[in-house]
Formats: sequence, C-alpha cells, structure tokens
Amino acid sequence: MAIELTPEQQAVFDAIEHSTEHLFVTGRAGTGKSTLLNHLSFHTSKQLVICAPTGVAALNVGGQTIHSLFKLPIGIIGNQPLEQPRDVKRLLKKIDTLVIDEISMVSADLLDAMDRALRQARGRASEPFGGVQVVMFGDPFQLAPVPPSDPTERAWMRDNYKSMWFFDARVWRETELRIHTLREIHRQHDDEFRQLLTAVRYGQVTADMAARLNEIGARPAPTDGIITLASKNATVSRINARELERLPGRAMTATAEVHGDFEHARTFPAEEELVLKEGAQVMFLRNDTDGRWVNGSVGVVSRISNTVYVEVDGEEHEVEPIVWEKLKYDYDLETKELSREVVGEFHQFPLRLAWAVTIHKSQGKTYDRAVVDLGARAFSPGQTYVALSRIRSLEGLYLNRPLQPNDIFVDQDVLRFMNEVAQAQKAARSAAKA
Ligand SMILES: Nc1ncnc2c1ncn2[C@@H]1O[C@H](COP(=O)(O)OP(=O)(O)OP(=O)(O)O)[C@@H](O)[C@H]1O
Ligand SMILES: [Mg+2]
Repeated sequence: MAIELTPEQQAVFDAIEHSTEHLFVTGRAGTGKSTLLNHLSFHTSKQLVICAPTGVAALNVGGQTIHSLFKLPIGIIGNQPLEQPRDVKRLLKKIDTLVIDEISMVSADLLDAMDRALRQARGRASEPFGGVQVVMFGDPFQLAPVPPSDPTERAWMRDNYKSMWFFDARVWRETELRIHTLREIHRQHDDEFRQLLTAVRYGQVTADMAARLNEIGARPAPTDGIITLASKNATVSRINARELERLPGRAMTATAEVHGDFEHARTFPAEEELVLKEGAQVMFLRNDTDGRWVNGSVGVVSRISNTVYVEVDGEEHEVEPIVWEKLKYDYDLETKELSREVVGEFHQFPLRLAWAVTIHKSQGKTYDRAVVDLGARAFSPGQTYVALSRIRSLEGLYLNRPLQPNDIFVDQDVLRFMNEVAQAQKAARSAAKA
C-alpha cells in the first residue's frame, strides 16, 4: 500500500538517507514508525537490512528476526564466542545500514551481541557495529525486553548492566545515538482517544480519564470472532478452546513428546496437548527453515491427516512437528563466563490457536476493534498502553473489566532515559534558535 509520508516522517527519512549516524526514531504508538521503516526499505539507496526482535514484529515490517539474521543463540549471549557461518559473515559484510524495529524489546545484551557480531564479521574490531549505521525504531513506553527466566541469567544481567534496556547497552559508551521523535498520531483520528492513550503511556491517567475509558470500553463484547488481546497465556488458551468448541467437525489432538529437563518445566514452548479442527485459526510459533512462514504468521487449518495442512495467504502448506531444545546456562561468578548445553527436548507442531493472542504478540499491530483482557491486573509496564493503543477508535474498544489505577505504570529506567532525551532535544532546539 502506497502511503505518502508526512513532512515530519520525510525529515526523518532524509536524516537516515543522508547521514551515517546511529539513530533512534521514537514516538507514541501509531505515529508511523513502522510505516516510515517500510517506506525506507523501498526507497533507500543504501544497502539496508531490516530486523526485529520477534517473529511477529519482523513480519510486520518485512524483515528477519535478529536471531535468524545473525544466527545468534537463544537466551543471554554474554561474552560467549560467536560462531558465524560463511553466509552470515558475507551478508553482514555487505550492510551499510541495519534497521531494527521494536527496539524496546531488544535487551542490552542482545544489542551488544549484534555489535560484536558485526565487528567480527567485518574484521573491524575497534569500530562500534563494525562501521555499520544502526537505525532503531520503537517506543520504550511499550513492551520491555522479556527478562530471562533462568535465575543465573538474571544474575548475569544485573551484574553487567544498569538495566536490560537497549539504551544501557555497552556499545553506547563508545558511540553517539541521535534521537528523532515523530509527534503526529496516525492510527487514531479521534483527539479524545489520542489524549487518553497519551495519558496511559506516561502513567498520568486521572480519575476522569479512567472513568471515560471505562464508560465506553467496559461493556459486553460481540461474539463474532473478535480478537482478544490478553495479558496472560492462560486466558489466551481458555478463549481459544472456547472458539474451537464452536467449530463443527472432529477435534484432533497432537501430544507433545518431551525429554530431559523439559519434563518438570512449568511452561512449555508450545501446547503439550494441541487440539485442532479444520477451520481453526492458528498462529505459527517458529520461523520455517524454508521461509514458508515465520513466527507469528496466522493461517487456517485446511486439512488434518498424519500432519497438519495450514493455509497462509491463500497457499496451503504441510506442517510437521519440530523440536525445541532447552539450554542450560552456567554463569561462573569467578571467571564471569557463561557456558551452556542442551538439557531437554520438546517435539510438537509449531502451531497454536489464534482467536486470542497475548498483548506481547500484538505489539506493532493495528486492529479496528479488540477485546482487552488484563487479568486481575496488568503485570508489566507499558502492557496496558500497548493493548489499548492497538485499536483505531474508542468505538472498537472492549474491556472485559474496568481499568484500575494499578493497571497503568511506567518503567523507571525508561523515565530516566526519556527525560534525558527530552532535555537533550530541548537544549538542541534552543541552541538552534540562538
Ligand atoms: N503518512 C501516513 N499516512 C497515512 N497513514 C499512515 C501514515 N503513517 C502511518 N499511517 C498509518 O497509521 C497506522 C499506524 O502506523 P504504524 O504501525 O507505522 O505506527 P507505529 O509508530 O509503528 O506504531 P507502534 O508503536 O504501535 O508500532 C497504520 O495503520 C499506518 O498505515
Ligand atoms: Mg510499529
């Protein structure tokens, strides 16, 4: 879809095109960051590569996940040596500009690993990002990086970084980051909803504002397949089971094969008992090695036999079970070294039902309408903002319960960084005037 850039978007486009500086392009949800990024990919004269931290986010901007682009291991990377297959090395050598969308979900550790990978591949060990221009898009008031589940990994992060955010990566001690802010919101057109969303973003919702959101949103939702954005995996599963139940036809169950350390895990990477029917709406959980789908692609089950057939964008694909490996890290407090080994395996189809998705997986998306289910209370900063800001208008907003004050809170590290940004931008503006 051809979109005409607004003057402020055009100015950022020009800044990227005509400089080699590292840039951070930010702005509220729906200010057209991803749109600008898409435009850039078609109109740039640079050798430009696009990536994003999650499959869904990458799909949104026609890029690759960071992990698949750099062939990085899952979990904390720390100072492990990076293995680089020849094709990865060749690709990384060719890049002028690396564009990253949804940078808020990229951890400091991952950004530093990307820095190291680029230096290594390009044989330019002393240059930040190996001399590549890095352009990051995102909004730190949206979702944070997922903290490591492993306590040793969390300890390692705490020992090595001020926070897990990308802006606290070590690479920024060696190089400058220039910041551009987009100010005009395009996803929502109604000024009232824009103002309400901005208040949610900064955690400054007054009682009147909350009452207004609740007056409109807290009402029975339609039952015609409207998507639900839920904070918890358990809620997503419950809604999906209910929708599956409504479909005619026979339900088929695929039972996961589990070995090793996965056996006592509380959370599996996919359903242990995956129940499907023909006609079920599903989402892929992993990238396909042949590129037929990515993590986050949505399709419909078209046939079930020994394997499952899923139609994605009008094309039917045969889907087979895959293996997830559980890795165990060891962090030696003496040597400060990380090591890891495979301790468990989980075999299952890389599919799950998709009438409901987690708010985490909805970041970056736009919906005309959705039901927002925050559970008992929102449990991470930015969660409520991400969920509400996906929806185009107040008419499309459905809340399964009224919002409460403790659903809305802001990360302190983000406030610190964004205040610094605001100060710097103010200083730059008054210097320009003088
Ligand atoms: N210049 C433009 N003209 C018309 N529509 C636009 C323009 N820029 C963005 N939009 C529309 O606004 C909506 C939000 O844009 P986009 O997803 O790029 O925002 P974003 O800043 O990436 O949001 P988020 O922070 O939620 O990822 C989209 O539907 C997009 O098509
Ligand atoms: Mg976006």
